[in-house]
Amino acid sequence: MIPAIKSKLPDVGTTIFTVMSALAAKHDAINLGQGFPDFPMNQELIALVDEAMKKDFNQYVPMQGYLPLRESIAQKVSFLYNSSLNPDTQITITPGGTYAIYTALTTALQPGDEVIAFEPAYDSYIPNIEVNGAIPVLINLDFPDYKIDWDKVRQKISPKTKMIMLNSPNNPTGSVLSEHDINELRSIVKDSNIFILSDEVYEHLVFDNIAHQSILRYPDLMERSFVCFSFGKVYNCTGWKLGYCISSPALMAEFRKVHQFNCFSCHSPSQVALSAFLKNKDSYLSLAAFMQKKRDYFADRLKQTRFTPLVSHGSYFQCFKYDRISYENDKDFSIRITKEYGVACIPVSAFYKSGTDNKVVRFCFCKKEETLEEAANRLLKL
Ligand SMILES: Cc1ncc(COP(=O)(O)O)c(C=O)c1O
Repeated sequence: MIPAIKSKLPDVGTTIFTVMSALAAKHDAINLGQGFPDFPMNQELIALVDEAMKKDFNQYVPMQGYLPLRESIAQKVSFLYNSSLNPDTQITITPGGTYAIYTALTTALQPGDEVIAFEPAYDSYIPNIEVNGAIPVLINLDFPDYKIDWDKVRQKISPKTKMIMLNSPNNPTGSVLSEHDINELRSIVKDSNIFILSDEVYEHLVFDNIAHQSILRYPDLMERSFVCFSFGKVYNCTGWKLGYCISSPALMAEFRKVHQFNCFSCHSPSQVALSAFLKNKDSYLSLAAFMQKKRDYFADRLKQTRFTPLVSHGSYFQCFKYDRISYENDKDFSIRITKEYGVACIPVSAFYKSGTDNKVVRFCFCKKEETLEEAANRLLKL
């Protein structure tokens, strides 16, 4: 007899992302569902990885990550956010941003702890909280601008609140935190034992001349935070699954205890390559303008349809309401347009545990202009 597993995630099934990508492939649809670029990454960075491999950087690097890369990250953070980090004690290289988030949650949470998270939320957050035996306390971002109502946050704080999770720019909505949000957060966590997890994987994808409100700018918040990043999002190589976490020395020491018995150390040649490439400021400073052009191009083409755009100030994504097109629920609508019109998107209800349906779908615009143009041409028929 095969022993039965008592599931740690009994509510988790096949996600809509898998469903929509499979549907897109089956119907030869343009996949604006999943968030990945369909254009080549930087060739110079590829050459640097190649060079690192040929120079035989092919064995384990230290558990914390290749030191020159951690030093380059510290220099970058000092330049961008005027924050001074110790690469020995405050930065750990991880296999992607999702892993950094999971590890931070596993480090900080005990069974029964409450974690405040905002919905719509990136799909790993809630399972990552629950697998640690903790309780997600969910707050809807205000529709339609997807801002945080801090009074709702105050109401949800309890003696069990262990952490607040933030994501700016936000996936799926493209909303970003303002200085006002940071001040509200500050007033809430001051004199508390609450940790912060800040998912900043889209730090270089903030548009409209808005400054990214990184937690790294604020030493009082930083000391209680795990701040998570992804090289995949910065260098158009989501398949690399390489990122890092930044925290205060005390928290990072605990983070590393969990990390060292899970992944231990990440892909060496990529770290060697990135340690050099990160010094090229233009490689990350140019990203926002490049991607904003794509957002604007796609939104401009969709003006000729009955989709209603919602504001996106960042990320790979823009959400659109379709209530002038159909009364269907967002899942049925997304499946139908994939099958009948050949463009896949993601229904935003998939980012809510309770499936809140505001008749909104998410399109990913980090695609070649010809991909966006063809998708828009197909959607024009709706
Ligand atoms: C909000 C958010 N956080 C984290 C990640 C994951 O980053 P990585 O691919 O480096 O694990 C993503 C990827 O889609 C994301 O959208």
